[in-house]
Amino acid sequence: MVTLETIVAFTKRRGFVYPTSEIYGGIANSYDYGPYGAELMKNIRDLWWKTFIQQRPNMVGLDSQIIQHPTTWVASGHVGSFSDPLVEDKKTHKRYRADHLIDAWVKGYMSTTRVDPSKSDPVLDVAINKIAKATVESMDMKEMAEFIKLCKITSPDGNELTEPKPFNLLFETELGTVAGEKSKVYLRGETAQGIFANFKQITDSCRVKLPFGVGQIGKSFRNEITQGQFVFRTFELEQAEIEYFFDPEHSDWHELLEAWKTDMMRFVTNTLGIHAENLRWRRHTDKERTHYSKETFDLDYHFPFGWKELWGLAYRTDFDLMAHMHHSKKSLEYVDSATGRKFVPHVIEPAVGVNRLFLMALVDAYVQEDLGEGKSRTLLRLKPSLAPVKVAVFPLQKDERLRTLAQSIYRDLAQDVVTEFDDAGNIGKMYRRQDEIGTPLCVTVDYSSLEEKTVTVRDRDTMKQERIPIDALHQYVLQVIRT
Ligand code: GAP
Repeated sequence: MVTLETIVAFTKRRGFVYPTSEIYGGIANSYDYGPYGAELMKNIRDLWWKTFIQQRPNMVGLDSQIIQHPTTWVASGHVGSFSDPLVEDKKTHKRYRADHLIDAWVKGYMSTTRVDPSKSDPVLDVAINKIAKATVESMDMKEMAEFIKLCKITSPDGNELTEPKPFNLLFETELGTVAGEKSKVYLRGETAQGIFANFKQITDSCRVKLPFGVGQIGKSFRNEITQGQFVFRTFELEQAEIEYFFDPEHSDWHELLEAWKTDMMRFVTNTLGIHAENLRWRRHTDKERTHYSKETFDLDYHFPFGWKELWGLAYRTDFDLMAHMHHSKKSLEYVDSATGRKFVPHVIEPAVGVNRLFLMALVDAYVQEDLGEGKSRTLLRLKPSLAPVKVAVFPLQKDERLRTLAQSIYRDLAQDVVTEFDDAGNIGKMYRRQDEIGTPLCVTVDYSSLEEKTVTVRDRDTMKQERIPIDALHQYVLQVIRT
């Protein structure tokens, strides 16, 4: 498998991903998408939207704001959960409240030593006694750090922890222009909450009936403490999330989860063309599930740094709608038009990061192909529908007549597909350059083109060439790139 270092260097060199603000020395956990990266991101976004929003009968789209009423994040639990002393599992990068871990560890220690006093340790006893006189919550960061170290407290997965920090995952900012009258708001930590907050407006204004889903794509922001995972984990991320609402009395959530698992897997393998052997489902244990979820599965991809979550699928019950009802004091109940029954729908949430789909697509498509005789080529075997550039057009030689014809072919194709024109001259180099960025087709205009009105079309993967009449070229290209 390709290494992350190779992908990072490749994507920078070939205009896919640049470190953000590099001219100023960069900024942690942030990346900009170059010309080819922007096209690839757009293709992924468009395919997701088409598949899950436009092609399904029971789905609608939404585009809610990054800055929402701050109570949104109180209701969702983000403000409460993320302003506590957090520690991070150094291996899995899962975060935990330091006070909760300490609490659980103390309880475990006490019950063990009660049963078997020989297992007690006088040093630990003194430390525990100190806490017992106050409370865990009253410990400051330094005390917590010392306690975790002294008692060798690990994460629930048994891994070492980082030092606790007063850490808030939400980015804060202020609204208003007058100092002193500004109000604190947050950049959204997930796109999901915009969907819950608009639930009533959608049911009131659109003809939707349960079960139905609302999806949206947009930027979310997280003050991540982990670094060095390239676009896998960033401060600014783009999420594609669906909240699929249903009546728990009429739909079985186990069946819905299974149906969504099938659809998610089909999208990744068929629509994005990812190798199935690099994917797996992983069920969350009871311990690791988030507070709002009754069941969670991760669709993991085998990234260069191991199996990692690509796409989450959670049964969030009615947690969010209930929480927003409670905080807004507005009814978010759904009325069954057939029976008049009022209830709060439950929800299943498939949530994915577009940036992770992007990284997966690159890693999965990257190939170093041995061409024999000491020659090799770098190739992005992307599905044509994902490729940033669909077709490149070259004149075979620097001849004005060839150039003019090649440019008119370029202009015609560019009306419908992303097309590049290159007249650098060395045909071998021009092919290699397009192979590297994953361009499925290259069109070469030669002297026969002037007389016979045909061009050579070269296939990226097989490197086979065929002559196609110029007047059939446009249709031919459209057909290939639809695959
Ligand atoms: N609404 C549920 C939610 O936000 P999550 O597991 O925290 O759940 C959903 O995020 C998806 O968003 C993840 O599966 C992952 O693909 C992506 N994601 C989360 N944090 C990310 C980050 N810091 N950088 C890039 N992608 C991220």
